[in-house]
Amino acid sequence: MMLWALWLGIVASLLGTATADVSAVYQDPDTGLTFSQSFALYKSDGRGITFRVAIPASAATYTAFDTVIQVVVPNDVGWGGLAWAGSMTRNPLLVFWRGSNNAPVISSRWANGHSTPTSYTGASYTLYKTGTKSNSTHWQFTAICQGCTSWAGDGGAIRYLSPRGGNRLAFAYSPTKPSSSSNTSTIAVHEVHGYWTHDFSAAANSNYDAAVEKFQK
Ligand code: HEM
Ligand SMILES: *[C@@H]1O[C@H](CO)[C@@H](O)[C@H](O)[C@H]1NC(C)=O
Ligand SMILES: *[C@@H]1O[C@H](CO)[C@@H](O)[C@H](O)[C@H]1NC(C)=O
Repeated sequence: MMLWALWLGIVASLLGTATADVSAVYQDPDTGLTFSQSFALYKSDGRGITFRVAIPASAATYTAFDTVIQVVVPNDVGWGGLAWAGSMTRNPLLVFWRGSNNAPVISSRWANGHSTPTSYTGASYTLYKTGTKSNSTHWQFTAICQGCTSWAGDGGAIRYLSPRGGNRLAFAYSPTKPSSSSNTSTIAVHEVHGYWTHDFSAAANSNYDAAVEKFQK
């Protein structure tokens, strides 16, 4: 396990690409939800960003459904990003960093090419105090996304994530923090990016609506 993580880290540092190497199910005491989680390594010393997704058990295939996204971020991350369909281009992107007073900033972006993503209004995020916290090594945030599981792909065809199986997601990491707390800030290019298959079947929650109703803004 350690050797594998180390090897991935070495590959990451050589090529600027990385692979998430640990998938798990996480029972979150703060939100009361079950998350499917993946650990995305960005440094050869084992540092990585943990991405957690929870969805309603009622989510049907080929429909848009809401997701709770919870991300655990080491303090040295400048900005991190999640690509909901596993590529930089033509899918909803979530970019996150810490703004003034270390408050989480989350930004909805879109890229048609390999250049700075612009604002994307097709997906919106609501940040909650529930499941958002920090300590001396990490910070984490919890948000609900509307619009992250369905989007207009190449040629305008509507595409959907599957609520049942694995979806290929991607992440990006930069050590450079955007200079402002505005969610439309310019961001520096990433140092590392990587891909994994995220198990959405393990993210289903039959108590989703009841749990989300208790979230504090
Ligand atoms: C200033 C902002 C950004 C710039 C200038 C930028 C630039 C680039 C460039 C030039 C590549 C090609 C690298 C290569 O082929 O080796 C690339 C690839 C990639 N970028 Fe970005 N990027 C930015 C933001 C983002 C964000 C916010 C994400 C979100 C997760 C992201 C995810 C990826 C991924 C997954 C790849 C792999 C190739 C692909 O899937 O298209 N990038 N980026
Ligand atoms: C920034 O936040 C505002 C207020 O919540 C929101 O209306 C807007 O869509 C967000 N923009 C981005 C790029 O996330
Ligand atoms: C620090 O916070 C992160 C994110 O909430 C958590 O995963 C980690 O276990 C915490 N570390 C300690 C030592 O409490």
